[in-house]
Amino acid sequence: MAMSADYIRTSLQSLYGDTISAGDIRAWCAMNDSNYQTVTNKLAQYKVSRGSWNLTVREKMEQKYQSSPTIIPAQEQNLIPEKDDTFVKFGNFGDIRKIIQSSLFYPTFITGLSGNGKTFSVEQACAQLGRELIRVNITIETDEDDLIGGFRLVNGETVWHNGPVIEALERGAILLLDEIDLASNKILCLQSVLEGKGVFLKKIGKYVRPAAGFNVFATANTKGKGSDDGRFIGTNVLNEAFLERFPVTFEQSYPAPAVEQRILEGISLDLGIEDRDFCKRLVDWADIIRKTFFDGGIDEIISTRRLVHVIRAYSIFADKAKAIQVCVNRFDDETKQAFLELYDKVDVDFEMPSEEQQKQALDSHNFS
Ligand SMILES: Nc1ncnc2c1ncn2[C@@H]1O[C@H](COP(=O)(O)OP(=O)(O)O)[C@@H](O)[C@H]1O
Ligand SMILES: [Mg+2]
Repeated sequence: MAMSADYIRTSLQSLYGDTISAGDIRAWCAMNDSNYQTVTNKLAQYKVSRGSWNLTVREKMEQKYQSSPTIIPAQEQNLIPEKDDTFVKFGNFGDIRKIIQSSLFYPTFITGLSGNGKTFSVEQACAQLGRELIRVNITIETDEDDLIGGFRLVNGETVWHNGPVIEALERGAILLLDEIDLASNKILCLQSVLEGKGVFLKKIGKYVRPAAGFNVFATANTKGKGSDDGRFIGTNVLNEAFLERFPVTFEQSYPAPAVEQRILEGISLDLGIEDRDFCKRLVDWADIIRKTFFDGGIDEIISTRRLVHVIRAYSIFADKAKAIQVCVNRFDDETKQAFLELYDKVDVDFEMPSEEQQKQALDSHNFS
């Protein structure tokens, strides 16, 4: 008698549990007068590695497909971000947290220069409040299919796949549209979502309304009005009606020096280095650079993110000059030189790397 894969699986499961070995299958074959090869072929979809099968995995998937054949089931995993001990609250964080805590639908736009904790603050507010977060990194290519969803081919069948926006609507999660000013006009498919009405999935004839707690945050380097000075290459002018759907905008600036120092110290400790003095110097350095930048004396800026890169490089190379060097190499020669000279000013112990050393650092950097 030919036994179905399902029968074999259930039978094996009742005898040996969910995870079974080749030995279990051999024993079962002996009892059931079956061929080992035939049985393992039938169990191919449950195989996790050589000589090991897990009989639970597919079962769950199958049940889901049976109950809703045309829609891929929602992800079961927990989408609450993890708390990060190195996070230091500052600026708009308190307000962002309050908005999320209110559970009101209140689309919020956060604008500010790159690498100053916009994304991190939304993530950590959700972590602290135990709220689910779905983050979508927007690019010029992002379209309705990426956001709302579309049809996918699964096991030879066309099935509807919910995009992250639908997922967030149905779960009552926080939707983070990250770097939204990189979007094209295709983002306008979110208009009704931003009005709090949910969205009608015309391709499958289903209306998805927002579950309680659903809210939208958007981050951007600009205010969605483009950038004249060419500093934000790739940013686009967003549709005015689209921007009007955001009742509030927060302007995020770099943390104050004292706060930034606490951030760097926290990260240093996390990396097992204790060098408060270096953290202080780096913060002073970034502060001078930012002031010079706003006065028009320099074209580039050092972000909080880049300071964190320097601390990481320091934990790897145990060499301050090298850490700074490899982290500023990404800028053009003139800016790089200006940055190094400014560091020289805030740290008396610092020795400007010679041209030769600079070249070596650049080579080793490029190599890695
Ligand atoms: N409040 C903060 N506490 C600790 N680290 C921070 C904080 N803000 C920014 N950082 C550091 O800067 C990095 C960049 O922050 P991120 O939120 O990604 O910037 P962006 O504003 O570009 O979204 C983070 O990964 C983190 O290392
Ligand atoms: Mg970001």
